[in-house]
Amino acid sequence: MKKFWFMLTALVATCFLVACRGSQGVSTIKENKKIVVATESEFAPFEFKSLVNGKDTLVGADIELAKAIGKKLGVKVEFSVMSFDNVLASVQSGKADIAIAGISVTDERKKVYDFSDSYYTSENVVIVKKDKVNDFTSADSLAKQTVGTQKGSVQETVAKKQFSKASVVSLASNGEMINELKSGQIQAVVLEKAIAEGYIAQNDDLTLASFNLKSDGSDAYAVAIRKGSDDLL
Ligand code: ARG
Repeated sequence: MKKFWFMLTALVATCFLVACRGSQGVSTIKENKKIVVATESEFAPFEFKSLVNGKDTLVGADIELAKAIGKKLGVKVEFSVMSFDNVLASVQSGKADIAIAGISVTDERKKVYDFSDSYYTSENVVIVKKDKVNDFTSADSLAKQTVGTQKGSVQETVAKKQFSKASVVSLASNGEMINELKSGQIQAVVLEKAIAEGYIAQNDDLTLASFNLKSDGSDAYAVAIRKGSDDLL
């Protein structure tokens, strides 16, 4: 009888593992002859749209990384572009096989997703208008002002913690956030350094704030994968 239960448990466990793996493992991707990669499109230099031979094309370091993964697996890469707050969820629901979008590894996210080794280390910075750089010299100097972050990003949490006296708004796109900063609807924006530097280089009226934010420990980017796809990981 004991042996029977043991066999049954083993059988159920194996089926479970096979089912999990089958859903998004390497073999399924190879069968489908493509890997679906969830990403976003306003996060230069990692993923952004650029004119290539007159055509609006998705380019950037993350895009190259995705293509290299596709090449290694011998399959086509299909990019599924969406707002950042949907990127991780699309991996969980199985709509995408992996997500590559400058995604920071956090303990919270690790509970739900598996992450590859990290491939980039970032740092949070604050952008303000040049003519306000001497007014906003600390997080507290932004009391009663509005600070913008991207919806679903770790910067949302960072801003809420570190700008406790300001009101923090979350916007779906970084471009939109920068426009609101320029037009004065919001007074500061929290972004990661490489992305912030790109916007500053393109906008004469913007600059980095003179103060630093505290690190929140979520500074490494990695590829997110649904839990259980060990061979893919
Ligand atoms: N690293 C931050 C996070 O994981 C922001 C990433 C935003 N990525 C993007 N493609 N907009 O929350």
